Amino acid sequence: MAEGRFTNPVVASLAGVKDFFAKQELASRFSDNDRADDMTVLITGANSGLGFALAVEFAKRGARVIMAGRSKIPEKLSGSDTVEMHYLDLSKIDTIHHFAQSLADQAIQIDICILNAATALPGSRQTASGQDEMFLVNYLSNVILTQDLLSKSVLRVKGTSPISKIIFISSDSHQGATYIDYDEFGTYFEYGVSKGISNYSYFKLVLNTYATELSRRINTNGIQLSINVICPGPVASNIVKEAPWLLRMTLKGIFRIVFKSPSKAARPVVYLALSPDYEGTTNEYLHMFNPKKMDPKVYESEEGEKLWERSMDLLKVIDEDHKVFVS
Ligand SMILES: NC(=O)c1ccc[n+]([C@@H]2O[C@H](COP(=O)([O-])OP(=O)(O)OC[C@H]3O[C@@H](n4cnc5c(N)ncnc54)[C@H](OP(=O)(O)O)[C@@H]3O)[C@@H](O)[C@H]2O)c1
Repeated sequence: MAEGRFTNPVVASLAGVKDFFAKQELASRFSDNDRADDMTVLITGANSGLGFALAVEFAKRGARVIMAGRSKIPEKLSGSDTVEMHYLDLSKIDTIHHFAQSLADQAIQIDICILNAATALPGSRQTASGQDEMFLVNYLSNVILTQDLLSKSVLRVKGTSPISKIIFISSDSHQGATYIDYDEFGTYFEYGVSKGISNYSYFKLVLNTYATELSRRINTNGIQLSINVICPGPVASNIVKEAPWLLRMTLKGIFRIVFKSPSKAARPVVYLALSPDYEGTTNEYLHMFNPKKMDPKVYESEEGEKLWERSMDLLKVIDEDHKVFVS
């Protein structure tokens, strides 16, 4: 059975406390001079938490920001007329294609694509397409979206200077998760809080394995698309909003005292996206401001290949509009 590093939400949050006090190797390199003028930045899950803080930060740095999310917020809140809200519900496959098509129809080209949206549910929930919601939102929707944006040239590969970038927002809690379990893969079954917490970190391992395999497949002949992964560290966000009341209050208490504000947590992500230090790089991983290796399983090429094949096989069955950009 697939298992993530944590099964207890309080223990998982307390691991974040350690991160809060961790030394930040590259923090001094974060600079207000790294601008995003003339760049278009897409952020999923941009209506709240880290995603919202990133949208504000990129807008301040001069970018056109495409905020994608399932709940609308007033555009004027950003203080910028270059910020747009787009509807995207990653638990509904048709909205992913609709979103990608609408960007293509407007001839929008993305320079920086930040795949930030994720959910932490207290248990299983089945989507209309028949998958577990956390599996779809936290993993598979990112495959559908990246393949569709690449197929429609909303995300450009090669020929641009500087090259386009995808940043996967992950979690260091993926370290130590089990190998991907293909008996469970894409299959819906019922579970509760412990397995939910375990799946959250396990799906981040699955996501990181996809990011690594995508980079491997696209960047066969030099770096044509920068695909990096980051864990922002502990963020005092809304991520536990669906937890049962008592657990939610406990976690919110921990968040308030020792987790970082979303705007502070956004800093290493902005650094990774804009700093010359990471220009033209791929398959790098930052844990906040600390360069690090992901779990060793993420880099195993047989694992990446198997995940790719199984994901594409599943999509053939559940998504009639599925596009494959790289085979
Ligand atoms: N919080 C932490 O301590 C922590 C630590 C490490 C990594 N991270 C990662 O950081 C990222 C941002 O999380 P956060 O902490 O900022 O939590 P958050 O405030 O809950 O943000 C998550 C975002 O994802 C969106 N989302 C969830 N389900 C969606 C769906 N079906 N379709 C579209 N959007 C959906 C949420 O939208 P709604 O508001 O509509 O639900 C929200 O905008 C996540 O990838 C998370 O795994 C967080």
